[in-house]
Amino acid sequence: MNVDKIPDEARRKQIIEMLQDNMNAEFRATLQYICHRIAVYSRDSVLGESFKSAALDEMAHILYFSDMIDKLGGRPGFTEWPVRSGGTIADMLQADIALEHEARERYAAQLEALADQQQLHALIASVLSDEEEHHAEFSGYLARCSGDIMKQ
Ligand SMILES: [Fe+2]
Ligand SMILES: [Fe+2]
Repeated sequence: MNVDKIPDEARRKQIIEMLQDNMNAEFRATLQYICHRIAVYSRDSVLGESFKSAALDEMAHILYFSDMIDKLGGRPGFTEWPVRSGGTIADMLQADIALEHEARERYAAQLEALADQQQLHALIASVLSDEEEHHAEFSGYLARCSGDIMKQ
């Protein structure tokens, strides 16, 4: 994947910084969803598979962003990734929906900011579409949770 328009130095640095934030947010989501997959699998394997599938999407997103940082001449850098690892199923889903909400807001704003970068824009649009699916899936699951499941 190439960046179609060579940005000037200030713009390049700004884009790299944005991609670093994205990459680290994706790490956080990947780890949180894997923790949740492990925590729920024996109780609810369908939800466990849903967490795993979302985690694999987020892992792919990490690499989209790290590869793009490389292509722009940056060096991917890692931060801390705080995760909400336990609680009831409802607690986990709420924490995950919050991450997906943040992701949707972040990528929607970036679509505006990257109108001059066609390929990056297309990449963010594709990632945003995945986040919308995760948000809908987790929200639907939370809505379907019975009182009993909520107390687990
Ligand atoms: Fe993601
Ligand atoms: Fe997501």
